[in-house]
This record gives sequence, C-alpha cells and structure tokens, in this order.
Amino acid sequence: MALKPLSDLPELSLLIGPEEDMHAVFRTARGQSPLASNPMGMLMALRARHLEPALSDATRQMETEPLLMQGVTDGPLIEMRKQILLFSNGEAHRRRRQPLARTFAFKLMEGMRSAARNVAEELLEDHAQTDDVDFLNAISAQVPQRIIADILGVPREDLPYLQRLVDDVVQTLGFFDPALRAQYEASSLEFNAYVGRLLDDRRRTPRNDFLSEFAAAADEAGELSEAEMRADIIALIVAGSDTTKNSIAMTLALLLDHPEQWAAFCTDPEGLKKGAAAEGLRYEPVAFGVPRMAVADFELDGFAVPAGALIFLVIPSACRDEEVYGAPDVFDIRRADHPRWHFAFGGGAHRCLGEALARVEIEETLSAVARRAPAIRLAGPRPRMSVAAIRAVDQMRVSLR
Ligand code: HEM
Repeated sequence: MALKPLSDLPELSLLIGPEEDMHAVFRTARGQSPLASNPMGMLMALRARHLEPALSDATRQMETEPLLMQGVTDGPLIEMRKQILLFSNGEAHRRRRQPLARTFAFKLMEGMRSAARNVAEELLEDHAQTDDVDFLNAISAQVPQRIIADILGVPREDLPYLQRLVDDVVQTLGFFDPALRAQYEASSLEFNAYVGRLLDDRRRTPRNDFLSEFAAAADEAGELSEAEMRADIIALIVAGSDTTKNSIAMTLALLLDHPEQWAAFCTDPEGLKKGAAAEGLRYEPVAFGVPRMAVADFELDGFAVPAGALIFLVIPSACRDEEVYGAPDVFDIRRADHPRWHFAFGGGAHRCLGEALARVEIEETLSAVARRAPAIRLAGPRPRMSVAAIRAVDQMRVSLR
C-alpha cells in the first residue's frame, strides 16, 4: 500500500489554555488520526506504539536546533547545550552517559530508599504543626534537591542558590521569553563555574562520594572533556529537580482527589506505593514529550516521514492510549496494565537515567505522608499542571493535621 504524505495529517494546536482539558484534546485527536501535525509543521505522534519507531535509528535527538530556531546562535546557552548528554547523539552521547549509568542503576538506587524516607519524614516533621504548608516548595521540591545534593556531596546550604540556577536553566529547555535571555545566560555561566569548583574540590580532596569517584574515573579514562564533565553534573541536577518535584505533588493531589484510594493507601502504603507512583506518572506525566529529527526516510503508521522532518512523541497522549490501558482516563493505583517500560520516562538511547531514583523519591515521599499525615487535606485551590516541556504544578497548599 502506498504511504500517505504528511500533508494529509490533521492539524493539532498545542496552544491549550489553562481551562481546557489537555487530555480531552489528545483523546479527540487520537480518535481522528494516530498522527497529527502542529502549526509549526512538527509531526505529533500520539500513540504508545510510536515510541519505538520515533526513537529508532531513523531519528536523532535534537542538538542545538531548538535554540537556533529561537535565534540563539552563540553564547553560553549554545555552548552548554553542545556539551549535554541529553542533546547529543551517537558516540558523544555514549561517552557522556556511560559514567553516570552505573551509579543510577535500579539496584544502586534502592540504596537511596532509606535516605529518601528520612528526608521526607524530616520535612513532614518540620511542618507537622502548621495548618497551611506550601507542600510544593517546602516538601516536594526539597526531597529531590536534598537527595541529589547528598549523592553529589553538595552542601545543603547551597541549595537555595542552586535552585535559582536550576529554575533559569530549566526555562531554556523549551521556548523561552527572549527578554530573559541575558539572565538565563548569566545563570548558565554561574552554574558551570559552581560545578567546576565542586569538581576541583574533589580532585584536590577526594571524599567517599559519587562526585569524587566520577572525577577520578573520568580523569583516568580521559574520554570526557572538562566541559562535558561539568555538563553531566549539571544535567543530573537539572533533570532530577523539577520533574520529580512536580510528580510528587501531582500524584499526592490525585490521591487526595480519590478519597477511597487515599484511605486504602494509608492502610497499606508499603503494598501500594509502587502502584501509586506509577499511576501518578501515567495519569499526569511531567515530561511533555520527546522531540526528534528524522535522519532517514522512514514509515510511521502508514505515513512517509522524510529525512529532516521533526517528530514529537506526545507522552501524555501515549500514557492514556486506549490501546494499552483499560479505562485510561480512570486514576487507579491498583492498575495492573502498566507496560514494563513506563512511557513517562521516554525510550531508546536517551531513556531517563534517573527513573530508579525518581521512583524511589516519589514512593517514599508518598508513603511518608500516609504514615505521618494521613489526615492531610488541601488548604487552597486544587493544584493544576501546565502544558509545557516540563509540566509544572501551579501551587499546592495543604494542612498536614
Ligand atoms: C518524575 C521524574 C522524571 C521524569 C518523568 C523524567 C523523564 C525523562 C524523560 C522523558 C527523558 C528523555 C528525554 C528525551 O529522550 O528527549 C529523561 C532523560 C533524562 N533524565 Fe529524567 N525524568 C525524571 C527524573 C529524573 C531524575 C531524578 C534524574 C537524575 C537525577 C534524571 C536524569 C535524566 C537524564 C540525565 C536524562 C538524559 C539521558 C540521556 O540523554 O541519555 N531524570 N528523563
């Protein structure tokens, strides 16, 4: 059968207003066609079955292209982007990912479980007597920050400063306000210098920590430049902060939306924590999608995709694909149809390196809340999630007692 041209695709706008139900927009779009094109001419892949072909050898990760599209052709943002594993391909990507992959493997991250539990309990204890807690910033943001700081050996007192740099660098991952470019450039230079000082410190005075091992192993192997080493560390700090923070908050909000599931969770947090985390990640995934560029002509769902085409795998759509999940619009922490590889973490060579850590942090924070504050309730409006590269929860105020 002849392949159809991309010009046959229906158009799907991603300008989804805060009052609109994003999932309904994708559900309708999936009902019409498995693929769509957005007004910028990008191919939108809406089905879970597109993950593999969209992330196959026929495509590559975008490198500096998203910055170039925004008119950023030189300066610190481009320089940093060129060093980061997420925005590299082939041999450069392999070289940059390998030194991190072993540390962040599932088995080793299990070792972080008790640390995550202690941090979450400490934070809850600090706020136990307060009726109006900023859960988003005072708890869900703090767990991943403190844990990655402990893994890297970053002093806790540096965390507020680091958070400011993370906030700015995260903005540059998607399309950003050009008026803020100078601020973001300054932050990326500061971040780079900060991480450079950390690495130098471990070279001079090695400790028994991940950063000392990373610096020694990378220096000995001689495969990574200094700029690549710094970028690897920055990537870890940035990639694990907002993603996990928003996922913890949103999953808790979803549990509170379903009082019978929250009650069951509080009775058996150990038995239900994995299911609750996986379902929160599915129902409201924080990473909006994975963009790629076709490097060869290939077929996707009966359409001819030419080399050079831009493809965007829409994660929230794949996570509610009715071909994979029964009743996909129902939040169910006991769901038994999660695929082995959760779509929230992407796929292929760039599949999330921090999945094991993220799951441990989400699971342990939720179960700590269930044990310490089962009577928790919202003390403000119901939290909502934005439509953005990394989807953000707008606010979440709670009473813990
Ligand atoms: C709920 C939490 C998280 C979600 C939903 C998430 C999601 C993702 C996704 C979808 C990708 C692939 C992007 C692409 O292919 O274009 C990715 C990559 C990555 N993630 Fe995560 N992530 C989370 C937490 C973390 C954590 C805690 C860390 C580390 C501390 C981390 C480190 C990374 C790194 C380093 C990459 C790049 C991997 C590569 O390019 O080879 N992530 N993440």
